[in-house]
Parts: sequence; structure tokens; C-alpha cells
Amino acid sequence: MCGIVGYIGQQQAAPILLDGLSKLEYRGYDSAGICVASDGALKVAKAKGRLANLSSLIDGGKAVEGTVGIGHTRWATHGAPSDTNSHPHVAAEGRIAVVHNGIIENYLKLREMLSRRGKTFRSETDTEVIANLVEYYYDKSKDMLDAVRKAVARMEGSYAVAILCVDQPDIMIAVKKDSPLIFGFGEGENFVASDVPAILRYTRKVCYLNDGDMVVFTKDHADFYDSLGDKVVRQAETVDWDLSAAEKGGYDHFMIKEIHEQPKAIRGTISPRIKDGEVVLDDIHLTKDYLSQLRRVYVVACGSAYYVGCLAKYILEKTCRLPVEPVLASEFRYSEPVLGEDTLVIIISQSGETADTLAALKEAKRCGARTLAIVNVVGSAIAKAADDLIYTWAGPEIAVATTKAFSTQLSVIYLLALYISRLLGTLPRQEYNAILHELEHLDQKVALCITDDNLSKLRYYAEQYYKVHDAFFIGRNVDSAVCLEGSLKLKEIAYIHSEAYAAGELKHGPISLIEEGTLVVAVATVAELFDKTMSNVKEVKARGADVFGVTTERFADEIKKTVSSVVTVPETHPLLQPSLSIIPLQLLAYYIALMRNCDIDKPRNLAKSVTVE
Ligand code: F6R
Repeated sequence: MCGIVGYIGQQQAAPILLDGLSKLEYRGYDSAGICVASDGALKVAKAKGRLANLSSLIDGGKAVEGTVGIGHTRWATHGAPSDTNSHPHVAAEGRIAVVHNGIIENYLKLREMLSRRGKTFRSETDTEVIANLVEYYYDKSKDMLDAVRKAVARMEGSYAVAILCVDQPDIMIAVKKDSPLIFGFGEGENFVASDVPAILRYTRKVCYLNDGDMVVFTKDHADFYDSLGDKVVRQAETVDWDLSAAEKGGYDHFMIKEIHEQPKAIRGTISPRIKDGEVVLDDIHLTKDYLSQLRRVYVVACGSAYYVGCLAKYILEKTCRLPVEPVLASEFRYSEPVLGEDTLVIIISQSGETADTLAALKEAKRCGARTLAIVNVVGSAIAKAADDLIYTWAGPEIAVATTKAFSTQLSVIYLLALYISRLLGTLPRQEYNAILHELEHLDQKVALCITDDNLSKLRYYAEQYYKVHDAFFIGRNVDSAVCLEGSLKLKEIAYIHSEAYAAGELKHGPISLIEEGTLVVAVATVAELFDKTMSNVKEVKARGADVFGVTTERFADEIKKTVSSVVTVPETHPLLQPSLSIIPLQLLAYYIALMRNCDIDKPRNLAKSVTVE
């Protein structure tokens, strides 16, 4: 949500800012803008809608001269998407310009205070308050650092902010609290940005700023201050992945590229953590004593990551014999969860910046629970805050709808299940070995779900279904959790109303919605429950539903007796089966969205990283 880029150097800033913002498009936005300090003025250009609108307004940046600037893609929170509400915001007297990601919770109080002191406002945003607050203090002291410090001391909420002052155009100040911000070290140029892809073309040396950090920088130098205002050293880390990893590489969309990347991503998550027939999680410190006294495990996350939590319940309970409760992060804090030293809270997040998930983690820690985070983005807030951390190592995920992050999060759950069960002795060795064996081959079986043959099949079925208005996903046990994710994929990228139900639950209400032509996607891979799921399939068929079935090769003939549209996936250990059955559902949603001409990588109203509650 919202993307920030700041540049100070010797090159023309505007094209670099536009280029950086284009790499942050995946975060979701509805307007964009830049501000360049040059010739004693702050030159601002903004446009509602796609970045292309801004780019054509300023001739790809060429029309704006100057070597120092800030840029922003805005995802509206305070005030509708409009040119006026777009960032950057310039303060009333025109001396300070600001871009901001996050929410200033006390902005109304600050706005009133500043209005009483003569400041005027053009927009409805909380960000314009920051610009005016800094200018208010700057007017008194003519000292930028002092002014920003005083302003920050008054700001409540979350923010990543980059600030320019017309009087000191060779300096930029950036501050961060609860919103992502990185600093990029260049040669004769320096950068700030919300995420690495924005600046990777120019530098690989980055530093993930801590909460409370402030950086004051010129093109040749940077001073870092921590939350207490003390000068600190922040080391550069070298980014080891390539920009090509964040580009489409010949695919039409990031989503289909990332679907194809799943075998490799899963391999990257799993193989370094299996050594000599054992799961080795060097990154975490859960001892047998600690695990033995655990009374409960919560898995807390949002969206697809929460659905991994729903799967984790089946997987961890079966292997580790521990009670596991998946909880939506947005509900966690307000439901008074029972937390203490005997509770492990597993936090799952691709971005590592999701506001609700981060808040849940902090609450769990405050109440004395141990937290273990499963995160993709290195150096993100959740990665930094958790007691234990397992990276998914999926590489950058750009499509808003997650695929490879989901698959790698699930892979970490399998690893954890084996790791914990080994310490607790809850799985017979034979069963442990059987799961481990399948885990080692999971990437190959996932690859078999993405063959050209399967792609054509799913494209064909998408053609049959892309005009439907409603869809239902049904399954039992792990299949029901796979349905939750499949249904989310369809609604978020293809804009089709869709619901997922445990198949046995249908007759308790939802079956009344089934009518002639309603699409029902039935996932039936759990052997012991296959017949029961088929009974539910027959019930919806009898009421006119058009059923699309997903099952394993073993049940292909059986399901075809009832369902004509079927896709099969290879068979693996039942607990690992979700990693395979999710693939056709991702592809079905992708091809349906394609046929409906949807903006697949940037679905309407959605953001990749949800940094507001
Ligand atoms: C759906 C999707 C979202 C995210 C959710 C959590 O395709 O991507 O539902 O799973 O917003 O995001 P992270 O994992 O970054 O915390």
C-alpha cells in the first residue's frame, strides 16, 4: 500500500522516480505524484489513476529538471483518489514537501492546532498535516532536523515519510515507524524506497530501517538516528537477487510467472532445510522442554496466509498432537486470546508488513507468548519483531494475488510439523520418513501440475465458466481449506462472487443458493472422505449445479462417473496434498480473469502490502 521513492544524486531525478514507482506498482495505488527541488522551487506533478498518466504529463520525467526528488503512489485512505489528495503534499508556505505511507491517527487534532496558527489545507489527507507540521517548526528554527524531530514527536500512528525543504535542496530526511522503508547506498547518489525493486537498478546495498529511525542524507553522505535521537551506524546489506526476479520475463502477467515459479520456490524453501534424513531448522530455537509444556498454538495471519493457518491446523494437530487454532489477525487482539508462556503464536506474512498481523504479533509478545514468524520479505517489520523466524525464501512476489508465497508458507508448515513432531516424538519414524520422502519430491509433483497439457485443460474449462456470476468451492478436511484459498483467488482477480464451504456444511443453509448453472468446484483428494464428498457433489448436481472436480489420479475414474469436468493432480502424502490441489484452482482463477479482461496483477481496490488496519 502506497509506494515511496526518494532520490538525491547527479542524474535527473524525475525519470528515476518514475522508474522506481513503476517497480512499486504491485503494492496497489490509485494516484501518483512526484516533487523535485530545483531552482529554489518545489516542482510538483500529480495524476489520478495509473502511473502512465503521470508519466505522460511530464514526458517520462524529462519535463521536470532537478537532481533531488521524492515520488509516491497513493492507495487512498483519507480522502478519495484525486489529483488534490495525491502526494507529494507541499505545506502552506511552500517550503516543505512530503510523501507518506501509513496513517497519522491524530491528524485531525494536529490539523485543528495548525489551522488555529494560520496554516491552510488543500486536501483531506493526513499527510498534508505532516508537511504543515514540519513547516510550522521549521519557520521557528530554520533547522530541518530540529523541525522534523519536533513534528515526529507529535505524530501518532504509522509512517514512512520522505521530506524535502526548498531552502536546503541538497538534503533529504526520511523517518519510519510501522511502515516499511529502506535506504539505498549509491555512489554519488542515495535513495530511500518502500521496497528493494524500486532502487535495485541503481544499487544493491540497502539498509532496512528500524522503527523510530531517521536518516538525514545528501548525495554523498547519510546520518542515521535511532528512536532516541542518538546517532547510530546502519550497515548496508547486499541484495542477492536480480531485478529480473521482479520482472515478467516473457510471461503476460506476474501471477502466471509466479505460478510457474512454484516448484523452484518450494525447492528453495525445503531442500536447504533437510539434511541427512532430518529437518534442520537452524534459524529457530524451540526446545523439547519448551514444546512439551505448550498448551496451545495459535496461527495468526490475514487472507491467504490465514488459509495456510487453516491448513496448519490439520497438519500440526495430526503430526504434533498439539491444539492449533487459526485466527484472523484483525480479530486476534480484540478476542482476548488466552496467551502466556505456554502458548506459541505462529505469525504468517508474505510482506512482513501487514498492519493487523504485526499488531497481533506485538500483542502476543506483550502477553508473554513466544512468537515464530514465517515471512518472505527479508528485514521486514514482522521478521524483525518475532522471537523466532523462518524465511520462506520465495523471492519477490509482485502479483497482488499470492501464489508462490502461499505455497512456500505451506512448505514451512510441513517442515515445522516434522521438526516439532521429532522433538516431541509424536510421529512413528516410518510415518516421519514417509512425509519427509514426499516433501523432498514435492517440487517435482507441483511441476507436474503446471505442464502445458494441464494449462490447456484449465484454459478450456475457464472458457466454459468465465461468464458465471456465482461459484461455490466445496471440500472436506484439508480440501476445505484449499477451497478457501481457491475461492479467494477467483473473487479477487476475476471479480466473481464465490464462497467456500466445508462440503458437509452445504445442507445447513448454502445449498438453497444452488440453482441451474451455478458453478461448484469440488476438491476431493482425501481418500477416507472421498465418498462423502461425492454425496455432496451429487446433491448439488441434482439441483442443477455445473460441477468442476479436482482430485488425485487414483479417484479420476470414480469422479468421472458423476462429474464430466475433472482435473487430476498427482498423489502425495495426504497432508501434503493441498500443495498440489491448489495449483489447478490458481490456474482456473487466472484463466477466467484473463477471459474477463481483468487487471490480473493489480486487481481493483487491492494492495499487495496492507499497512493499514
Ligand atoms: C490474496 C493475498 C492476501 C494476502 C494477505 C496477507 O491473494 O495475497 O490475502 O495473503 O493480504 O498478506 P501478507 O502475507 O503480506 O501478510
